Amino acid sequence: MMSNLQEWPEPIVRVQSLSESGQHVIPSRYVKPPTERPSKNSDFSDANIPIIDISGFYGDDDNLRLNTLNKISMACREWGFFQVVNHGVSHDLMDRAREAWRQFFHLPLELKQVYANSPKTYEGYGSRLGVDKGAILDWSDYYFLHYLPSNLKNYNKWPGQPDYCRCREVIDEYGKELVRLAGRLMKILSLNLGLGEDCLQNAFGGEHFGACLRVNFYPKCPQPDLTLGLSSHSDPGGMTLLLPDDQVAGLQVRKGDNWITVKPAKHAFIVNIGDQIQVLSNANYKSVEHRVIVNSDMERVSLAFFYNPKSDIPIEPVKELVTPDKPSLYPPMTFDEYRLFIRLRGPKGKSQVESLKSPR
Ligand code: OGA
Ligand code: NI
Repeated sequence: MMSNLQEWPEPIVRVQSLSESGQHVIPSRYVKPPTERPSKNSDFSDANIPIIDISGFYGDDDNLRLNTLNKISMACREWGFFQVVNHGVSHDLMDRAREAWRQFFHLPLELKQVYANSPKTYEGYGSRLGVDKGAILDWSDYYFLHYLPSNLKNYNKWPGQPDYCRCREVIDEYGKELVRLAGRLMKILSLNLGLGEDCLQNAFGGEHFGACLRVNFYPKCPQPDLTLGLSSHSDPGGMTLLLPDDQVAGLQVRKGDNWITVKPAKHAFIVNIGDQIQVLSNANYKSVEHRVIVNSDMERVSLAFFYNPKSDIPIEPVKELVTPDKPSLYPPMTFDEYRLFIRLRGPKGKSQVESLKSPR
């Protein structure tokens, strides 16, 4: 690969400024090839990913406990995605987190530019994923930051304009709550895979797991049929907890050859399996491709919280899930190595985890 990860290959253009310029035509760099455009196989029917009340798992009704486990198991196998409600995270905190970030994106450009990111760590305010020169870009800006491990958490790289928004405090509180929810979901996934409840978490490095946040900002787009807010991808990390916009749909999940538009339930989190859990589960669970469509009337804000393995330990299928009938599908690889792919090439469907398969 020619490019390195020091600098962007081209000057960065903020999608928000394109949107605000009032042009009726989007630059050709954002125009997707016809097969990738949103009209292609988009499903706007009533289909939706499962909505699951996880409080049932914590009550004393054994039937309800099993039933809840089962629903999550089916959702993981059939969709790789589900929405959780009654998850214990304060609804008020969810709203405050989203609105604090909305305020950040509404700050004048000069104030946001202070946090402009580079492909070296991606931390900060960004407008592209991948460093391929001349790549077709997505219609979104974002902010990326590390929450854990604590040696990567750097408040200097978090937005800090307390006069304008209270991002730091809110992110700290939000991160703490989401780590707790993710830990609970890890146990449930582990049990559903027939493993001890701590097995997946241990494979993540126990208490040394990582967590980061990507806040996506999808500005209004004058030609939403020609582009995507975020191209098809699977999440490279362990598990994602997405807080979608409460007003505007946009996330689409692949189901066979169709793209199902998720209808967010009120104060739900959208949970999905990432590539690292696909690998650890020896593909019993699969990370599922998803993408984001944009529209001409409304901007959209979403918070993607990524719960990841410790980044320098080898990730490979857990022993219990490797059998003579189902040999290990993946050679060991650290998450640090793994995430270089998306950092260099940008979102590319499931091509990375597919290419990892051990030769058989
Ligand atoms: C992501 C993602 C979906 C959304 O950030 O990885 O898939 O709805 N976001 O913004
Ligand atoms: Ni994603």
